[in-house]
Amino acid sequence: MSATLFYEDAIDLLDADHKLVQKLFLDFQGLCDNGGPSETKGQLVVKICQDLTVHTQIEEEIFYPRVRAAIDDDALMDEALKEHAEAKEVIARIQGMAPTEDGYDTAVMHLFTTVIDHVMDEREKVFLKARYSVADLRGMVPELHERKKKLQKEVQTKAPTPSSAGKKKVAS
Ligand SMILES: [Fe+2]
Repeated sequence: MSATLFYEDAIDLLDADHKLVQKLFLDFQGLCDNGGPSETKGQLVVKICQDLTVHTQIEEEIFYPRVRAAIDDDALMDEALKEHAEAKEVIARIQGMAPTEDGYDTAVMHLFTTVIDHVMDEREKVFLKARYSVADLRGMVPELHERKKKLQKEVQTKAPTPSSAGKKKVAS
């Protein structure tokens, strides 16, 4: 079935990513609150980091450049890229940590806050401006969808498992 039948437009597809990752963060918070096993937390965080990596990349490769060209607000798009860069720094830090390490939960919750702030900005500013621009939001869906599927496969083979991240840390 074509991706265009699943998603109304690019915003719909991207916001579905936001909702999914928000749910994963809430699951992580639930595990922290209930003293859940580190292994489960680590697996969840691997998924969160992979999903965010893919999401930011399809935005940066496809959605942002088209929106930038259509809305004439470079400052807004630069700010969105800056927020992505901040999130990527936190993701890289978390990927180098073991789930049992001190500060792990705090780092993940910091990422949650960073992501939520960015999502709010994106919804209220970028998506809003894109919606009323000439950008072909429907036309972008198949491209975003295809690129997302390809990147998902790539990150799944590349990303460290929580335990290997921990081992690497000990060895260095
Ligand atoms: Fe986003």
